Amino acid sequence: MDHFLYRNGVLHAEDVAIPAIAAAVGTPFYVYSTATLARHYRLFQEALAGMDHLICFAVKSNGNLAVLKVLGDLGAGMDVVSGGEYRRAQAAGVPGNRIVFSGVGKTREEIRLALEGGIRQFNVESEPELRAISEIATALGVTAPIALRVNPDVDAKTHEKIATGKSENKFGIPIAKARSVYAEAAALPGIDVVGIDVHIGSQLTDLEPFRAAFSKVADLTRTLRADGHNIRRLDLGGGLGIPYTRSNEAPPLPLDYGQVIRETVGDLGCEIEIEPGRLISGNAGLLVASVIWVKEGEGRDFLILDAAMNDLARPSMYGAHHDIIAVAEPVPGGPTQPFDVVGPVCETGDTFARARELSLLAPGDLVAFRSAGAYGAVMASEYNTRPLVPEVLVAGDHFAVIRARPSFDEILARDTIPVWL
Ligand code: LLP
Repeated sequence: MDHFLYRNGVLHAEDVAIPAIAAAVGTPFYVYSTATLARHYRLFQEALAGMDHLICFAVKSNGNLAVLKVLGDLGAGMDVVSGGEYRRAQAAGVPGNRIVFSGVGKTREEIRLALEGGIRQFNVESEPELRAISEIATALGVTAPIALRVNPDVDAKTHEKIATGKSENKFGIPIAKARSVYAEAAALPGIDVVGIDVHIGSQLTDLEPFRAAFSKVADLTRTLRADGHNIRRLDLGGGLGIPYTRSNEAPPLPLDYGQVIRETVGDLGCEIEIEPGRLISGNAGLLVASVIWVKEGEGRDFLILDAAMNDLARPSMYGAHHDIIAVAEPVPGGPTQPFDVVGPVCETGDTFARARELSLLAPGDLVAFRSAGAYGAVMASEYNTRPLVPEVLVAGDHFAVIRARPSFDEILARDTIPVWL
């Protein structure tokens, strides 16, 4: 359930009519619902109730400071994968002891930034990284809490570009090698081994890969404890999928996911961390666009929008489906027609949907892409010198622009023509 519903014939974000935002901000824009973000966060809290846990929101899915503040104020931790995301979490008021740092390519500067600013744990992905953390922590006179991200060689059964838990993927330390790397970690100065980390992929719609991965982590916990390591924290990553269509998808619920966690690692007495991104932010956001033209093509009509692949990359990048709905509520049983929904960018790949059945739409009409709150604005670019789309946050009957659309002057001012030209 989300808080984007038709009321009085018009799509609303909570109690705000979408056309009111469009009139104030212009299109295209992203809009997020505070109530939906909070609801999704609470679903995970309920799923893990009774277990010592921290829900670390995956900042990569939606890094807007206002979104992070909503979640941080509810008690969420943050999962960051760059110095920039670390700075975002800090700027949103999340203390270092609630920030975990993931990613295969942390630089020395990023490691130092996090050690100086405070960090709950590094999820370490390689031996060279482990040694670098030890060196930097020792030089700073601090101790770095670490978990090793293990690669459990489990097939997440998701899109190949977002599966991370197979041995051929670049992520993590092969689970078979984990014991020896843990032994090295324990012997290094400036390192405190606190736990194990795993993340097998994103948009998982089947719980069995989670069960397989978490079971391997449970076995490894027992082995490492027998080896003398004080494993007290398990970071189980993110990845729980969401419905991208209203009709035929029913991915597992957070409660079922929580049950898998209980069944696999619940008896180990460890503190549980999870790193959900998409499930919290995905269906808490829309991308709203206007129809520029309706163009008659050969045997098809193109709905040309003012949003494009640079604003929402997922359809062109992964062939992903996003529901597209008219902002003016379609009359039940009223006329519809198939449209190829495209943007203005000069590439055929700038196609959001083919033969999508929509109500009859005309230039100036508003449409909304659902499920655009995760991996939407964060993946946007200014390709074709199209300004980054603004972001709006709604709470009840009010809204605020939480990232303004840059002006062309601002965009051009970032370039410099060298003196010799
Ligand atoms: N933790 C780690 C270490 C991750 O790499 C990711 C996502 C997450 C947590 C959060 O996963 P989530 O709960 O959001 O599934 N751009 C792609 C998704 C890339 C996901 C990358 N890692 C897309 O638009 O589908």
